[in-house]
Amino acid sequence: MPTIYIDGRPVEAAEDQTVMQAARAAGVEIPHFCWHPALSVPGNCRICMVEVEGKGTDIACNMPVKAGMKVFTNSDEVVAHRKAILQLTLLNHPVDCGICDKAGECTLQDYHYRYNGEPSVSVDAKVPATKFNELSDRIVLDNERCILCSRCVRFTREVSGSNGLGIEHRADHSRVQPSSDGAFRGDPYSDNVVDLCPVGALLSRRFLYRSRVWYLEPTPSVCPGCERGCTINVWHRLEDWKLKSVATKENSRIARVTPLENPAVNGPWICNKGRDLADLFERPRTTQAKVGGRPAEIDEAVAAARRLIATATRPVALVSSWGSNEELEAFARHLGGRLACFVKADHRPREGEVLEDGLLIKAGKNPNSRRARELFGDAAPSFAPGTDLVLCWGEGFDPALLPAGAKLIVIGSFFDAATDRADVLLPASTQLERDGHYTNFEGVVSAFAACFPRPAGVADAEALFGLLAGEDAT
Ligand code: SF4
Ligand code: SF4
Ligand code: FES
Repeated sequence: MPTIYIDGRPVEAAEDQTVMQAARAAGVEIPHFCWHPALSVPGNCRICMVEVEGKGTDIACNMPVKAGMKVFTNSDEVVAHRKAILQLTLLNHPVDCGICDKAGECTLQDYHYRYNGEPSVSVDAKVPATKFNELSDRIVLDNERCILCSRCVRFTREVSGSNGLGIEHRADHSRVQPSSDGAFRGDPYSDNVVDLCPVGALLSRRFLYRSRVWYLEPTPSVCPGCERGCTINVWHRLEDWKLKSVATKENSRIARVTPLENPAVNGPWICNKGRDLADLFERPRTTQAKVGGRPAEIDEAVAAARRLIATATRPVALVSSWGSNEELEAFARHLGGRLACFVKADHRPREGEVLEDGLLIKAGKNPNSRRARELFGDAAPSFAPGTDLVLCWGEGFDPALLPAGAKLIVIGSFFDAATDRADVLLPASTQLERDGHYTNFEGVVSAFAACFPRPAGVADAEALFGLLAGEDAT
């Protein structure tokens, strides 16, 4: 373990670390645009200059540590270099922060104010470029804002493997462009380049001009899109910035989804399906309990469901693979002894969806199949002769398969054919309205937290199971 000195402080570094890595591990921030911990080192932006005693200045991201080296991250020479580099980086950058989605999260903006703060020294007009370069139906590129760090290009080569982006031409005519085979459009991980871009050049069309980021806050969550269970941040409106009279729906909507880095599950990435969770969670909701197809109070519906369970001779439960660990355990505890339980796939692959790949995406499109199967077994759902009641928790059950004469209780959050057919319907909260945990296909347990309040008329499934079993019932 070589000891190096950063700004006079001794730091234990690993043999194979660069000065950038050793400094970050020791809590010393060195500015960087092109360097990213999960990508190769191109050394093109030059903002990470440091001074090494007796050696002069050079870039920290590509400088191996050497025992005894003395590194200065803020010497007069380093400060002067950084200012000059920022003048160069901003030479053709339009500085349209006022309309840029990256404002508030932009390292160019931050570094300019922290390390430069001077007006441009240039008297020449900025070189114009494409402002709205449609890379796909998901992503648009503002080439004028691009600082040519090449993070996005390297991502498609080194991580997603689509090779969908490249840089063409030279000098101030250099432009990031999609490859002519259209590979970027089909890259299921393409939206990661929006997070990777240190400036506001790559923009999500879903999020375009939707909100300033300082009006939002993230809630840690888990993507339910497949058995990987990537950890994510679900962004939504801050309490203090809730809209009071116009567009109030925005207050309870997902503004965007970003990865929450987790080395045990997804590293720093997620796939595009994880970005599209609003499509899943903002479908029409069941908020009204029903008995025999007519609206009922929740107590009345619970009582009707309890009667059906109490009088059934051969009841079957189809258990949700979207239930949390806590809910699955509550179901097993309260109802597992009374009904024959089978784990159901709530969601199946959609047409055109990537089934599975070697990076993150898994073929099972349900987040908690592993814990559900641990508790209720692997057997495929089936109905023994004489089945006279089916309790369906969650989605994915085709009511055409209901045995003749059997009654149907549905505990669900979204409308489907089963909720339409239900003899008793009990509306349940979604993952975004309660806390819980999922166990992914490798057995890693990840937590999710509530982002939004439960709508009126909706109960947590865990509470419903206790009521159906007769506990706390009046
Ligand atoms: S678009 Fe963004 S990530 Fe890509 S090279 Fe330009 S600045 Fe870097
Ligand atoms: S890989 Fe699976 S869990 Fe991860 S973001 Fe994509 S769909 Fe969600
Ligand atoms: S971060 Fe070192 S050269 Fe870009």
